Amino acid sequence: MSNPVSTLVLVAHPDLSHSRCNARRLRAARDAGPHVQVRDLYALYPDYLIDVAAEQAALQSSQLIVWQHPVQWYSMPAMMKLWIDEVLAFNWAYGPQGRALQGKELMLSLSAGGGVNAYQPQGSNRHTLDTFLAPYEQTAHLCGLRFLKPWVLYGLSHLSDVQVNDDAARYGDFLSNYSGS
Ligand SMILES: Cc1cc2nc3c(=O)[nH]c(=O)nc-3n(C[C@H](O)[C@H](O)[C@H](O)COP(=O)(O)O)c2cc1C
Repeated sequence: MSNPVSTLVLVAHPDLSHSRCNARRLRAARDAGPHVQVRDLYALYPDYLIDVAAEQAALQSSQLIVWQHPVQWYSMPAMMKLWIDEVLAFNWAYGPQGRALQGKELMLSLSAGGGVNAYQPQGSNRHTLDTFLAPYEQTAHLCGLRFLKPWVLYGLSHLSDVQVNDDAARYGDFLSNYSGS
């Protein structure tokens, strides 16, 4: 079996102390092995002053990049958006000289309050989650990142602790063992 790839997990949850899913996934990622680096963005940047050079260095040393956050307003928490705006800079991540991320992989790790039935054309959210994720997929494409299948847990308020624990354990196993594609 080949070695697991160097992995960077960026966690953006505005209140981990009240989190069921993302807090467990964060712990699982921290336990996944020395090849996995975890950065808790709200803890690192309580004043929202992102250290762009440090973030770019973390990206450069990783093959798999994971953006982990709860779905909020069909999108991402403010910190994740600010991180993208500032870190994925012109002529670094994209643009004529922007090749820093070419050939790396991006996976979303998402939790959603809405159940999978709500994320259907006939459901209350009227679209699949994949439809809402089009800007992420295009961001990856623009930066030369291969967009992996998102890791999603739906319907958080209806899930038992056993189910949420099981998700985090499988996520940790994935991060421990992923050897690229
Ligand atoms: C401000 C805010 C906006 C939210 N918007 C959505 C949404 O658009 N779709 C959805 O399915 N859940 C939405 N939720 C629910 C969260 O996605 C859900 O509580 C979270 O994924 C649970 O993960 P956690 O246990 O790690 O906090 C929202 C929650 C908050 C606080």
